[in-house]
Amino acid sequence: MAQEKIAIIGGTGDLGFGLGLRWAQAGQSVLIGSRDAKKAQEAADRIRSAVPGATVSGVENAQAAADASIIVLAVPFSAQAAILKSLKPTMKSGILIDATVPLAASVGGKPTRMLGVWEGSAAQAARELVLPGVAVVSAFHNISADALQDLPSPLDCDVLVCGDNAEAKERASALIKLIPGLRPLDAGALEMSRVVESITALLVALNRRYKVKHSGIRITGLD
Ligand SMILES: NC(=O)c1ccc[n+]([C@@H]2O[C@H](COP(=O)([O-])OP(=O)(O)OC[C@H]3O[C@@H](n4cnc5c(N)ncnc54)[C@H](OP(=O)(O)O)[C@@H]3O)[C@@H](O)[C@H]2O)c1
Repeated sequence: MAQEKIAIIGGTGDLGFGLGLRWAQAGQSVLIGSRDAKKAQEAADRIRSAVPGATVSGVENAQAAADASIIVLAVPFSAQAAILKSLKPTMKSGILIDATVPLAASVGGKPTRMLGVWEGSAAQAARELVLPGVAVVSAFHNISADALQDLPSPLDCDVLVCGDNAEAKERASALIKLIPGLRPLDAGALEMSRVVESITALLVALNRRYKVKHSGIRITGLD
């Protein structure tokens, strides 16, 4: 497989930065996107400090999207629609991996509650906001950003991948497999993301109850 060029929109944030770190560690080239190019460059510098020799750069979101073969969207739900609309002219094809969770916390509510999304899920909302040539896949909802950023600690988590385009799911899964300890599982059509996204609210509640930051999921019984 040719190396993908990954852009992480919101790559300065908790989840995006953690994914950037782990892919950089796996030898993957990464573009960190931000609304502010300087902030993106600072995040890229931090990745290079943690992973010497990493191929990572930080640019403004639109440039990151223009230069990528796979775009990961890692922004709060409250920002999802505006950022996708702003990237629409740039993102004409390729794959969008949406990690957005419509937690009530993104609009000032509780992190253990979900918002109702008319389209069914944040991922389905994303699909309505991108051009038809862009294949939307959803993933990474149930992985802790803290665990991703804790480089010395091995990961131990399944990543449920939803989408309506089989090739796009395979390419997203190949990227997930590059990160040791993560196992991608094909969770079905994009509409199944409604279930996967809501597991995050459960994990937030479990983190609080058990006073941890790293809870995740493993599905048993699969070969
Ligand atoms: N944190 C986790 O453990 C975790 C796990 C699974 C899924 N998720 C989901 O992944 C997404 C990102 O989570 P996060 O914790 O990484 O969020 P975050 O740190 O609060 O924000 C991520 C980035 O989004 C950008 N952003 C913030 N407000 C924005 C706006 N109004 N318009 C455009 N960009 C904006 C910011 O980048 P710039 O300021 O640089 O533009 C910020 O660094 C969320 O939907 C979350 O539910 C998070």
